[in-house]
Amino acid sequence: MYAATKSRRVFPHLCNLRHRLSYVAGIETSCDDTGIAIVDSNGRVRGNVLESQQEFHTRYGGIIPPRAQDLHRLRIKDAFERCLQEAGLAAEELTAIAVTTRPGLPLSLLIGLRFARHLARKYNKPLLPVHHMEAHAIQARMEHIADIEYPFLCLLISGGHCQLAIVRGPGRLTLLGETLDDAPGEAFDKIARRLRLYVLPQYRLWNGGRAIEHAAKSAKDPLAYDFPLPLAQQRNCNFSFAGIKNNSFRAIRARELAERTPPDGVISNYADFCAGLLQAVSRHLMHRTQRALEYCLDPKNHSFGDAHPTLVVSGGVANNDAIFANIEHVAKAYNCRCYRPSKKYCSDNGVMIAWHGIEQLLYDSVKNLRYDLDSIDIQGQAGFLNSSVDDVTGAAIKCKWVQPIGLLPSVAHACHS
Ligand code: KG4
Ligand code: ZN
Repeated sequence: MYAATKSRRVFPHLCNLRHRLSYVAGIETSCDDTGIAIVDSNGRVRGNVLESQQEFHTRYGGIIPPRAQDLHRLRIKDAFERCLQEAGLAAEELTAIAVTTRPGLPLSLLIGLRFARHLARKYNKPLLPVHHMEAHAIQARMEHIADIEYPFLCLLISGGHCQLAIVRGPGRLTLLGETLDDAPGEAFDKIARRLRLYVLPQYRLWNGGRAIEHAAKSAKDPLAYDFPLPLAQQRNCNFSFAGIKNNSFRAIRARELAERTPPDGVISNYADFCAGLLQAVSRHLMHRTQRALEYCLDPKNHSFGDAHPTLVVSGGVANNDAIFANIEHVAKAYNCRCYRPSKKYCSDNGVMIAWHGIEQLLYDSVKNLRYDLDSIDIQGQAGFLNSSVDDVTGAAIKCKWVQPIGLLPSVAHACHS
Protein backbone atom coordinates (compact mmCIF):
# COMPACT_ATOMS: atom_id res chain seq x y z
CA MET A 1 0.00 0.00 0.00
CA TYR A 2 2.70 2.50 0.96
CA ALA A 3 5.68 3.46 -1.13
CA ALA A 4 8.38 3.32 1.50
CA THR A 5 12.05 4.06 1.59
CA LYS A 6 14.26 3.12 4.49
CA SER A 7 13.29 5.95 6.82
CA ARG A 8 10.99 8.18 4.77
CA ARG A 9 7.46 7.12 4.08
CA VAL A 10 5.03 8.47 1.51
CA PHE A 11 1.29 8.14 1.79
CA PRO A 12 -0.09 8.12 -1.78
CA HIS A 13 -3.69 7.46 -0.66
CA LEU A 14 -3.71 10.97 0.80
CA CYS A 15 -3.74 12.37 -2.75
CA ASN A 16 -7.51 11.99 -2.98
CA LEU A 17 -8.22 13.40 0.46
CA ARG A 18 -10.43 16.15 -0.84
CA HIS A 19 -12.80 13.52 -2.16
CA ARG A 20 -13.28 11.24 0.82
CA LEU A 21 -13.94 11.64 4.52
CA SER A 22 -10.78 11.53 6.59
CA TYR A 23 -10.25 11.47 10.31
CA VAL A 24 -7.37 13.12 12.10
CA ALA A 25 -6.50 12.57 15.75
CA GLY A 26 -5.11 15.69 17.45
CA ILE A 27 -2.87 15.45 20.50
CA GLU A 28 -2.28 18.53 22.65
CA THR A 29 0.09 18.49 25.63
CA SER A 30 1.89 21.84 25.31
CA CYS A 31 1.10 23.02 28.84
CA ASP A 32 -1.16 21.60 31.56
CA ASP A 33 -4.08 20.16 29.57
CA THR A 34 -4.02 16.70 28.02
CA GLY A 35 -6.28 17.11 25.00
CA ILE A 36 -7.08 14.38 22.48
CA ALA A 37 -9.69 14.76 19.77
CA ILE A 38 -10.74 13.27 16.47
CA VAL A 39 -12.07 15.63 13.81
CA ASP A 40 -13.24 14.67 10.33
CA SER A 41 -12.55 16.55 7.10
CA ASN A 42 -16.06 18.08 7.21
CA GLY A 43 -15.09 19.77 10.48
CA ARG A 44 -17.23 17.48 12.64
CA VAL A 45 -15.79 16.68 16.05
CA ARG A 46 -16.07 12.89 16.45
CA GLY A 47 -14.39 12.59 19.84
CA ASN A 48 -13.02 15.13 22.32
CA VAL A 49 -11.33 14.31 25.59
CA LEU A 50 -9.80 17.05 27.73
CA GLU A 51 -8.04 16.27 31.00
CA SER A 52 -7.28 19.46 32.90
CA GLN A 53 -4.52 19.62 35.50
CA GLN A 54 -5.81 22.93 36.86
CA GLU A 55 -6.91 21.53 40.22
CA PHE A 56 -3.49 20.00 40.86
CA HIS A 57 -1.43 23.06 39.88
CA THR A 58 -3.74 25.51 41.69
CA ARG A 59 -2.65 23.91 44.97
CA TYR A 60 0.96 24.90 44.25
CA GLY A 61 0.29 28.37 42.87
CA GLY A 62 1.48 27.67 39.33
CA ILE A 63 2.48 24.97 36.88
CA ILE A 64 5.35 22.72 37.97
CA PRO A 65 6.73 21.36 34.67
CA PRO A 66 7.93 17.91 35.90
CA ARG A 67 4.56 17.31 37.60
CA ALA A 68 2.73 18.43 34.46
CA GLN A 69 4.81 15.90 32.52
CA ASP A 70 3.96 13.10 34.99
CA LEU A 71 0.25 13.84 34.72
CA HIS A 72 0.34 13.87 30.89
CA ARG A 73 2.19 10.56 30.94
CA LEU A 74 -0.31 9.06 33.34
CA ARG A 75 -3.39 10.12 31.37
CA ILE A 76 -2.54 10.18 27.68
CA LYS A 77 -3.14 6.55 26.71
CA ASP A 78 -6.47 6.35 28.48
CA ALA A 79 -7.53 9.70 26.98
CA PHE A 80 -6.74 8.40 23.48
CA GLU A 81 -8.71 5.20 24.04
CA ARG A 82 -11.70 7.09 25.39
CA CYS A 83 -11.55 9.43 22.41
CA LEU A 84 -11.60 6.51 19.93
CA GLN A 85 -14.53 5.03 21.83
CA GLU A 86 -16.45 8.32 21.75
CA ALA A 87 -15.79 8.57 18.00
CA GLY A 88 -16.80 4.94 17.42
CA LEU A 89 -13.60 4.45 15.40
CA ALA A 90 -10.67 2.07 15.45
CA ALA A 91 -7.16 3.54 15.36
CA GLU A 92 -6.68 1.88 11.96
CA GLU A 93 -9.43 4.09 10.50
CA LEU A 94 -7.55 7.32 11.29
CA THR A 95 -6.02 9.11 8.32
CA ALA A 96 -3.23 10.83 10.26
CA ILE A 97 -2.01 11.79 13.72
CA ALA A 98 -1.48 15.51 14.45
CA VAL A 99 0.49 16.59 17.49
CA THR A 100 1.57 19.88 19.06
CA THR A 101 5.36 20.07 18.72
CA ARG A 102 5.89 23.79 19.40
CA PRO A 103 5.86 26.18 21.30
CA GLY A 104 5.22 25.01 24.87
CA LEU A 105 6.74 23.44 27.96
CA PRO A 106 9.39 21.05 26.59
CA LEU A 107 8.70 18.33 29.17
CA SER A 108 4.99 18.41 28.36
CA LEU A 109 5.47 18.57 24.57
CA LEU A 110 7.73 15.51 24.73
CA ILE A 111 4.98 13.29 26.15
CA GLY A 112 2.58 14.20 23.34
CA LEU A 113 5.19 13.75 20.63
CA ARG A 114 6.41 10.37 21.93
CA PHE A 115 2.86 9.07 22.16
CA ALA A 116 1.98 10.40 18.70
CA ARG A 117 5.12 8.86 17.23
CA HIS A 118 4.26 5.53 18.82
CA LEU A 119 0.76 5.65 17.26
CA ALA A 120 2.11 6.70 13.87
CA ARG A 121 4.52 3.74 13.85
CA LYS A 122 2.07 1.20 15.20
CA TYR A 123 -0.73 2.08 12.77
CA ASN A 124 1.46 3.27 9.90
CA LYS A 125 -0.02 6.77 9.76
CA PRO A 126 1.56 10.08 8.79
CA LEU A 127 2.52 12.30 11.70
CA LEU A 128 1.62 15.97 11.32
CA PRO A 129 3.56 18.39 13.56
CA VAL A 130 1.44 21.34 14.70
CA HIS A 131 2.41 24.86 15.85
CA HIS A 132 0.19 25.50 18.88
CA MET A 133 -0.46 29.21 18.14
CA GLU A 134 -1.21 28.49 14.49
CA ALA A 135 -3.77 25.94 15.66
CA HIS A 136 -5.43 28.62 17.85
CA ALA A 137 -5.36 30.96 14.84
CA ILE A 138 -7.16 28.68 12.38
CA GLN A 139 -9.49 26.91 14.85
CA ALA A 140 -12.43 29.27 14.16
CA ARG A 141 -12.45 28.12 10.51
CA MET A 142 -13.66 24.70 11.63
CA GLU A 143 -17.00 26.21 12.68
CA HIS A 144 -17.09 29.08 10.13
CA ILE A 145 -15.47 27.56 7.07
CA ALA A 146 -17.79 29.41 4.68
CA ASP A 147 -17.09 32.82 6.27
CA ILE A 148 -13.43 32.83 7.20
CA GLU A 149 -11.31 32.68 4.09
CA TYR A 150 -7.58 33.12 3.90
CA PRO A 151 -5.97 35.55 4.38
CA PHE A 152 -7.40 36.98 7.61
CA LEU A 153 -6.07 38.98 10.54
CA CYS A 154 -5.79 37.17 13.86
CA LEU A 155 -5.41 38.45 17.41
CA LEU A 156 -3.95 35.63 19.51
CA ILE A 157 -4.40 36.19 23.23
CA SER A 158 -3.50 33.42 25.62
CA GLY A 159 -1.58 32.56 28.78
CA GLY A 160 1.77 32.52 26.99
CA HIS A 161 1.31 34.73 23.92
CA CYS A 162 -0.10 37.96 22.58
CA GLN A 163 0.30 38.31 18.83
CA LEU A 164 -1.27 39.94 15.81
CA ALA A 165 -0.68 38.02 12.59
CA ILE A 166 -1.91 37.74 9.04
CA VAL A 167 -2.94 34.13 8.49
CA ARG A 168 -2.60 32.74 4.95
CA GLY A 169 -2.90 29.05 5.81
CA PRO A 170 -1.28 26.47 8.07
CA GLY A 171 2.43 27.27 8.24
CA ARG A 172 1.89 30.60 6.50
CA LEU A 173 1.56 33.29 9.16
CA THR A 174 3.09 36.76 9.12
CA LEU A 175 3.66 38.43 12.48
CA LEU A 176 2.60 42.09 12.77
CA GLY A 177 3.24 42.58 16.48
CA GLU A 178 3.66 40.73 19.76
CA THR A 179 4.07 41.30 23.45
CA LEU A 180 7.39 42.65 24.64
CA ASP A 181 6.94 41.06 28.09
CA ASP A 182 3.93 39.28 29.62
CA ALA A 183 0.93 37.77 27.85
CA PRO A 184 -2.53 39.02 28.91
CA GLY A 185 -3.61 35.62 30.32
CA GLU A 186 -0.38 35.42 32.29
CA ALA A 187 -0.98 38.92 33.69
CA PHE A 188 -4.58 38.00 34.64
CA ASP A 189 -3.41 34.79 36.34
CA LYS A 190 -0.65 36.50 38.33
CA ILE A 191 -2.83 39.45 39.36
CA ALA A 192 -5.75 37.18 40.37
CA ARG A 193 -3.32 35.18 42.48
CA ARG A 194 -1.90 38.33 44.09
CA LEU A 195 -5.46 39.51 44.79
CA ARG A 196 -6.02 36.06 46.36
CA LEU A 197 -9.28 35.57 44.47
CA TYR A 198 -8.74 31.82 45.02
CA VAL A 199 -9.77 32.19 48.69
CA LEU A 200 -13.30 33.03 47.50
CA PRO A 201 -15.03 29.63 47.09
CA GLN A 202 -16.56 30.43 43.69
CA TYR A 203 -13.11 31.15 42.20
CA ARG A 204 -11.13 28.40 43.92
CA LEU A 205 -10.64 26.35 40.78
CA TRP A 206 -11.07 29.02 38.12
CA ASN A 207 -8.22 30.41 36.05
CA GLY A 208 -7.33 34.04 36.79
CA GLY A 209 -8.83 35.51 33.63
CA ARG A 210 -12.20 33.89 34.15
CA ALA A 211 -12.30 34.92 37.81
CA ILE A 212 -11.43 38.54 36.97
CA GLU A 213 -14.08 38.66 34.23
CA HIS A 214 -16.72 37.36 36.64
CA ALA A 215 -15.69 39.59 39.56
CA ALA A 216 -15.68 42.71 37.34
CA LYS A 217 -19.41 42.27 36.74
CA SER A 218 -20.21 43.21 40.36
CA ALA A 219 -18.16 46.43 40.33
CA LYS A 220 -19.87 49.36 42.04
CA ASP A 221 -17.23 51.93 41.15
CA PRO A 222 -15.35 50.80 38.06
CA LEU A 223 -13.49 54.14 38.03
CA ALA A 224 -11.87 53.45 41.39
CA TYR A 225 -8.61 52.21 39.85
CA ASP A 226 -6.69 53.78 37.03
CA PHE A 227 -4.07 51.96 34.98
CA PRO A 228 -1.43 53.28 32.58
CA LEU A 229 -2.00 52.82 28.85
CA PRO A 230 1.03 50.76 27.71
CA LEU A 231 3.21 51.78 24.74
CA ALA A 232 1.03 54.83 24.08
CA GLN A 233 3.90 56.60 22.31
CA GLN A 234 4.90 53.65 20.11
CA ARG A 235 2.97 53.59 16.86
CA ASN A 236 3.33 49.87 16.20
CA CYS A 237 1.34 46.71 16.96
CA ASN A 238 3.40 45.41 19.88
CA PHE A 239 1.93 44.88 23.32
CA SER A 240 3.10 45.19 26.91
CA PHE A 241 1.35 44.01 30.05
CA ALA A 242 4.17 44.24 32.61
CA GLY A 243 3.31 47.86 33.50
CA ILE A 244 -0.34 47.00 34.14
CA LYS A 245 0.75 43.99 36.20
CA ASN A 246 3.23 45.93 38.35
CA ASN A 247 0.76 48.76 38.80
CA SER A 248 -1.78 46.19 39.95
CA PHE A 249 0.58 44.72 42.52
CA ARG A 250 1.29 48.19 43.92
CA ALA A 251 -2.39 49.17 44.03
CA ILE A 252 -3.40 45.93 45.77
CA ARG A 253 -0.61 46.33 48.34
CA ALA A 254 -1.63 49.94 49.07
CA ARG A 255 -5.26 48.93 49.55
CA GLU A 256 -4.32 45.98 51.76
CA LEU A 257 -2.26 48.27 53.99
CA ALA A 258 -5.02 50.87 54.16
CA GLU A 259 -7.68 48.26 54.99
CA ARG A 260 -5.43 46.01 57.13
CA THR A 261 -6.47 43.04 54.98
CA PRO A 262 -5.46 39.77 56.72
CA PRO A 263 -2.82 37.60 54.92
CA ASP A 264 -5.54 35.23 53.75
CA GLY A 265 -8.06 37.92 52.83
CA VAL A 266 -9.13 39.86 49.74
CA ILE A 267 -9.44 43.65 49.47
CA SER A 268 -13.04 44.76 49.90
CA ASN A 269 -13.40 46.45 46.51
CA TYR A 270 -11.80 43.67 44.46
CA ALA A 271 -14.67 43.84 41.97
CA ASP A 272 -13.91 47.52 41.22
CA PHE A 273 -10.26 46.63 40.81
CA CYS A 274 -11.09 43.81 38.36
CA ALA A 275 -13.32 46.12 36.31
CA GLY A 276 -10.55 48.72 36.01
CA LEU A 277 -8.02 46.06 35.08
CA LEU A 278 -10.26 44.49 32.45
CA GLN A 279 -10.88 47.89 30.95
CA ALA A 280 -7.16 48.70 30.77
CA VAL A 281 -6.32 45.38 29.10
CA SER A 282 -9.24 45.73 26.66
CA ARG A 283 -8.24 49.22 25.65
CA HIS A 284 -4.65 48.22 24.97
CA LEU A 285 -5.76 45.23 22.87
CA MET A 286 -8.24 47.44 20.99
CA HIS A 287 -5.63 50.05 20.10
CA ARG A 288 -3.06 47.60 18.76
CA THR A 289 -5.70 45.65 16.84
CA GLN A 290 -7.09 48.83 15.31
CA ARG A 291 -3.64 49.80 14.09
CA ALA A 292 -3.16 46.32 12.61
CA LEU A 293 -6.48 46.66 10.78
CA GLU A 294 -5.43 50.01 9.33
CA TYR A 295 -2.15 48.43 8.21
CA CYS A 296 -3.91 45.48 6.56
CA LEU A 297 -6.51 47.67 4.85
CA ASP A 298 -3.93 50.11 3.47
CA PRO A 299 -4.06 49.59 -0.33
CA LYS A 300 -0.24 49.54 -0.29
CA ASN A 301 -0.29 46.39 1.83
CA HIS A 302 -3.54 44.89 0.53
CA SER A 303 -3.20 42.20 3.21
CA PHE A 304 -6.69 40.74 2.79
CA GLY A 305 -6.21 40.26 -0.96
CA ASP A 306 -9.61 39.54 -2.52
CA ALA A 307 -11.05 38.07 0.69
CA HIS A 308 -13.62 39.98 2.75
CA PRO A 309 -11.69 41.70 5.61
CA THR A 310 -11.94 39.34 8.55
CA LEU A 311 -10.57 39.40 12.08
CA VAL A 312 -10.37 36.28 14.25
CA VAL A 313 -9.75 36.47 18.00
CA SER A 314 -8.44 33.28 19.57
CA GLY A 315 -6.62 31.76 22.56
CA GLY A 316 -7.83 31.39 26.15
CA VAL A 317 -8.35 35.15 26.70
CA ALA A 318 -10.77 35.18 23.73
CA ASN A 319 -13.23 33.54 26.17
CA ASN A 320 -13.62 36.99 27.71
CA ASP A 321 -16.92 38.51 26.53
CA ALA A 322 -15.97 42.10 27.43
CA ILE A 323 -12.69 41.87 25.52
CA PHE A 324 -14.25 40.16 22.51
CA ALA A 325 -17.17 42.63 22.35
CA ASN A 326 -14.70 45.51 22.23
CA ILE A 327 -12.47 43.95 19.60
CA GLU A 328 -15.56 43.12 17.52
CA HIS A 329 -16.66 46.73 17.90
CA VAL A 330 -13.31 47.92 16.49
CA ALA A 331 -13.60 45.47 13.59
CA LYS A 332 -17.11 46.68 12.75
CA ALA A 333 -15.89 50.27 12.58
CA TYR A 334 -13.71 49.07 9.67
CA ASN A 335 -16.45 46.99 8.03
CA CYS A 336 -14.47 43.93 8.98
CA ARG A 337 -16.08 40.66 10.08
CA CYS A 338 -15.07 39.34 13.47
CA TYR A 339 -15.14 35.78 14.81
CA ARG A 340 -13.87 33.70 17.68
CA PRO A 341 -14.10 29.93 18.19
CA SER A 342 -16.90 28.59 20.43
CA LYS A 343 -15.88 29.04 24.04
CA LYS A 344 -15.13 25.34 24.46
CA TYR A 345 -12.47 25.68 21.74
CA CYS A 346 -10.91 29.05 22.70
CA SER A 347 -8.72 27.49 25.40
CA ASP A 348 -6.25 24.67 24.76
CA ASN A 349 -7.84 21.49 23.43
CA GLY A 350 -7.17 18.56 21.12
CA VAL A 351 -9.79 19.67 18.58
CA MET A 352 -7.72 22.64 17.39
CA ILE A 353 -4.72 20.36 16.83
CA ALA A 354 -6.80 17.83 14.89
CA TRP A 355 -8.33 20.63 12.79
CA HIS A 356 -4.87 22.02 11.98
CA GLY A 357 -3.99 18.47 10.87
CA ILE A 358 -7.07 18.39 8.60
CA GLU A 359 -6.06 21.73 7.07
CA GLN A 360 -2.52 20.47 6.52
CA LEU A 361 -3.92 17.46 4.68
CA LEU A 362 -6.27 19.61 2.61
CA TYR A 363 -3.93 22.45 1.73
CA ASP A 364 -0.38 21.15 1.87
CA SER A 365 0.94 19.32 -1.11
CA VAL A 366 1.46 15.61 -0.66
CA LYS A 367 5.20 16.06 -0.88
CA ASN A 368 5.07 17.92 2.43
CA LEU A 369 3.48 14.88 4.02
CA ARG A 370 6.54 12.67 3.63
CA TYR A 371 7.66 12.60 7.20
CA ASP A 372 10.60 10.92 8.74
CA LEU A 373 9.11 10.30 12.17
CA ASP A 374 12.44 10.65 13.95
CA SER A 375 13.19 14.01 12.34
CA ILE A 376 10.15 15.62 13.98
CA ASP A 377 11.15 17.20 17.26
CA ILE A 378 9.78 19.59 19.85
CA GLN A 379 10.65 23.29 20.16
CA GLY A 380 9.93 25.17 23.40
CA GLN A 381 9.83 28.48 21.52
CA ALA A 382 8.75 28.96 17.92
CA GLY A 383 7.75 31.98 15.88
CA PHE A 384 5.88 32.25 12.59
CA LEU A 385 7.19 31.91 9.04
CA ASN A 386 7.36 35.65 8.31
CA SER A 387 7.52 38.93 10.17
CA SER A 388 6.33 42.37 9.06
CA VAL A 389 6.94 43.89 12.49
CA ASP A 390 9.58 46.31 11.13
CA ASP A 391 7.32 47.35 8.29
CA VAL A 392 4.42 47.99 10.71
CA THR A 393 6.74 49.99 12.98
CA GLY A 394 8.08 51.96 10.01
CA ALA A 395 4.54 52.80 8.87
CA ALA A 396 3.94 54.49 12.29
CA ILE A 397 0.18 54.57 11.67
CA LYS A 398 -1.69 57.25 13.58
CA CYS A 399 -5.21 56.21 14.57
CA LYS A 400 -8.34 57.98 15.69
CA TRP A 401 -9.32 55.53 18.37
CA VAL A 402 -12.64 53.70 18.29
CA GLN A 403 -14.21 54.21 21.71
CA PRO A 404 -14.79 51.17 23.96
CA ILE A 405 -18.28 49.79 24.58
CA GLY A 406 -19.66 48.26 27.74
CA LEU A 407 -16.73 49.69 29.66
CA LEU A 408 -15.87 53.22 30.52
CA PRO A 409 -15.16 55.96 28.03
CA SER A 410 -11.44 56.23 27.24
CA VAL A 411 -9.53 58.78 29.21
CA ALA A 412 -8.84 61.96 27.28
CA HIS A 413 -5.10 61.44 26.77
CA ALA A 414 -5.74 58.09 25.06
CA CYS A 415 -7.93 59.48 22.28
CA HIS A 416 -5.21 59.80 19.66
CA SER A 417 -1.80 58.30 19.18
O1 KG4 B 1 -4.94 29.38 25.23
P1 KG4 B 1 -4.87 28.95 26.64
O2 KG4 B 1 -5.88 27.91 27.11
O3 KG4 B 1 -3.45 28.41 27.01
C1 KG4 B 1 -2.28 28.96 26.47
O4 KG4 B 1 -1.95 28.60 25.31
O5 KG4 B 1 -1.72 29.81 27.17
O6 KG4 B 1 -5.01 30.27 27.54
C2 KG4 B 1 -5.00 30.21 28.94
C3 KG4 B 1 -5.20 31.62 29.47
C4 KG4 B 1 -5.05 31.70 30.98
O7 KG4 B 1 -4.02 32.58 31.29
C5 KG4 B 1 -6.40 32.23 31.47
O8 KG4 B 1 -6.30 33.14 32.54
C6 KG4 B 1 -6.97 32.89 30.24
O9 KG4 B 1 -6.52 32.09 29.16
N1 KG4 B 1 -8.43 32.93 30.25
C7 KG4 B 1 -9.16 34.06 30.32
C8 KG4 B 1 -10.52 33.67 30.39
N2 KG4 B 1 -10.56 32.31 30.35
C9 KG4 B 1 -9.27 31.87 30.26
N3 KG4 B 1 -8.78 35.35 30.32
C10 KG4 B 1 -9.74 36.28 30.39
N4 KG4 B 1 -11.06 35.98 30.48
C11 KG4 B 1 -11.50 34.71 30.47
N5 KG4 B 1 -12.80 34.43 30.56
ZN1 ZN C 1 -2.98 27.87 23.91
